[in-house]
Amino acid sequence: MNLCGIFDSHAHYDDERFDEDREALLARLPQSGVAGVINCGTTLATSRTSIALAERFDYIYAAIGIHPEEAADATEADYDALLELYSHPKVVAVGEIGLDYYWDIPKEVQLESFERQLILANELEKPVIIHDREAHADTLSLLKKHCPRGVMHCYSGSVETMEELLQLGFYIGLGGAVTFKNAKKPLSVAAAVPQDRLLLETDCPYMAPVPFRGKRNDSSLIAYVAATIAAVRGEDAQALIDRCRENTALLFGIG
Ligand code: NI
Repeated sequence: MNLCGIFDSHAHYDDERFDEDREALLARLPQSGVAGVINCGTTLATSRTSIALAERFDYIYAAIGIHPEEAADATEADYDALLELYSHPKVVAVGEIGLDYYWDIPKEVQLESFERQLILANELEKPVIIHDREAHADTLSLLKKHCPRGVMHCYSGSVETMEELLQLGFYIGLGGAVTFKNAKKPLSVAAAVPQDRLLLETDCPYMAPVPFRGKRNDSSLIAYVAATIAAVRGEDAQALIDRCRENTALLFGIG
């Protein structure tokens, strides 16, 4: 698809599924229409890798933090070490943080990790990148309590909950799920989200859009996501990509 200026607001190029060809892939993404990527850490180690990728490639930026699935393994020393990294000029967000009640990870540990990182984001005046899986109520109540700026990544909730997030000033991140066969809910969100609050994302290597579903995802495939969202909104796909890139730059203070 011949679209350009794609900004992928959520990627994991540190993932082992990129080990074989990471350098070559990241070197050619700009020729495949990709203008920017935010690589999201999930642990101290992958946060460091995110920064290393951002140092290596101009168009890559880093989000750093402890993911809820990793919260049980994170130590105080990890949080201390992360704190040192936030002053790096290419660290643009606290993330990926949040709550995940799908996996059997103690809720108290997740809630404590999430809340301390929300407080930190406000202290640092950085936006947050939120992961919410089957934890909508607790996620929303902590966001209401701390009022950070940020994006709900891979948003999977209802249009009604989206309205609450919009009222908090949040952005809505949409990716490959809008192209899936059972995408009724994501598509209704895609149709309803105000154009100044939408961000595009991959969550790669996961969530590859149709016709690549199940394969390894990368930022260039956002073209298929944009085409699907633009069709449901009756808009031009390139204009949608351009608007979402501007939204991403505004939220994360890039450019
Ligand atoms: Ni992610």
